Amino acid sequence: MSDRHGSKAAEAALARAYEAARAYLRGVHEASNRVAVTQPEVRARLGTALPEKGESAEAVIGALVRAAEGALAPTAGGRFFAYVIGGTHPAGVAAEFLNAAWDDKPGTPLVTPFGCAVDGLVGEWVLELLDLPREASVGIVTGASMGNFLGIAAARHALLQREGWDVEAQGLFGAPPITVIISEEAHPTVHKALRFAGLGAKRVVAIETDAQGRMRTDRVAAALGAATGPVLVCTQAGNIMTGAMDPFAEVAPLCRERGAWLHVDGAFGLWARVSPGLNGAIRGVELADSWATDAHKMLNTPYDAGFGIVRDPAAHLGAMDISASYLAQAAGARDPSRYVPELSRRARATPIYATIRALGREGVREMIETCCAHARRMRDLLTARTGVACLNEVVFNQAIFRFSVPGRASDEAAGDAITAQVATRARESGECWVQSSVWRERTVMRFSVVDRATTVADIERAAAAVLEAYEQALAA
Ligand SMILES: Cc1ncc(COP(=O)(O)O)c(C=O)c1O
Repeated sequence: MSDRHGSKAAEAALARAYEAARAYLRGVHEASNRVAVTQPEVRARLGTALPEKGESAEAVIGALVRAAEGALAPTAGGRFFAYVIGGTHPAGVAAEFLNAAWDDKPGTPLVTPFGCAVDGLVGEWVLELLDLPREASVGIVTGASMGNFLGIAAARHALLQREGWDVEAQGLFGAPPITVIISEEAHPTVHKALRFAGLGAKRVVAIETDAQGRMRTDRVAAALGAATGPVLVCTQAGNIMTGAMDPFAEVAPLCRERGAWLHVDGAFGLWARVSPGLNGAIRGVELADSWATDAHKMLNTPYDAGFGIVRDPAAHLGAMDISASYLAQAAGARDPSRYVPELSRRARATPIYATIRALGREGVREMIETCCAHARRMRDLLTARTGVACLNEVVFNQAIFRFSVPGRASDEAAGDAITAQVATRARESGECWVQSSVWRERTVMRFSVVDRATTVADIERAAAAVLEAYEQALAA
């Protein structure tokens, strides 16, 4: 085999990838935010037929680099503000390279002590960073989607166990029904997790939200009062539109009193915990029973990195653990695969470890505070212009804007149309990536700051591009 690892051919492929990565990252902050290459064009570049014969690894990497040319959104750059997509820290990116080279699969601690140790340590660091109960257990998962599933599966296990029902053994047929109380503005991945857990995405009590998208406590109290049998309450830290945090300090005691399980989808908002200045908005979140959050958003690690955290490790393991005689355990050693849905997985903790170590606690805090300050600055710059409104209290990293036509401020349809146009024009300018969306049946421009690469100059440049787009849309 002429391309075994260590061969000239193998090293040529690594060198090609390394050079391409360096060139990409060197240019990413100035790259255009206009992605003009379409998916069919990329397909054509990739070649449509399954190759009969292989080619050199270096040639394949070259082909990938050419296929990606102009077709990547610069999410690692400083002026990408769509979809709560985080950037990356160089330490995490570099560790990710190593991770693939090491082909590390943390699990079976006798075989993979390195990956297992990193996994355990990162879990401890995350509990400390987020100041969650230190006795909680952590599964390092692909992201908040799986974190939500993990938390809900643990809830299902514990709630039914209290009813004398072993859901892992017996499934849900004939089980005592669980009432699920959930925000009407919950993220769709929570509904998906409920589907996976057999609890049904629609078989829920949806709780009305306030003007900022927070669950109304009085409605939660009423739903808890009306529920019979076991209850799961799903809340969120960080509304996908407004960034608003549910009123945990009020809801958590109600759940405790009722014996309900409180789960928090904190994909990005849970990171408010790292800052004394932001922590007020998220007061009481530590009282929950389970939490889901991402590393690849506010923590700026490479993708496929998040956490499912459960206060009661027995409930966590009850839902996730498997044992098989061929999977040798080492007494007292951490086996990460016991805490997550998958058995084999890449060593997700390694790039997270590198990112946290490179930033330190202070760096993490500063990064998140800076993202939030940038969101407030954008609000100030845009709303200084008549006709631009920010619809939310910018409590975290999210701002939603709406534009109106002068003299027709109450014409909602005209506002919808011009807001969509502004977002499209701003993005097509290549200056920044902003996205229109719909909130409460009205078109808005969403603005999320999730990247440590963003500077004040980036925000000023983005604001200028958006305001220019507004002028153009008005003149059109
Ligand atoms: C509030 C919220 N919950 C859950 C998710 C799902 O997270 P992930 O895509 O990392 O699985 C997201 C992702 O955007 C989110 O914003």
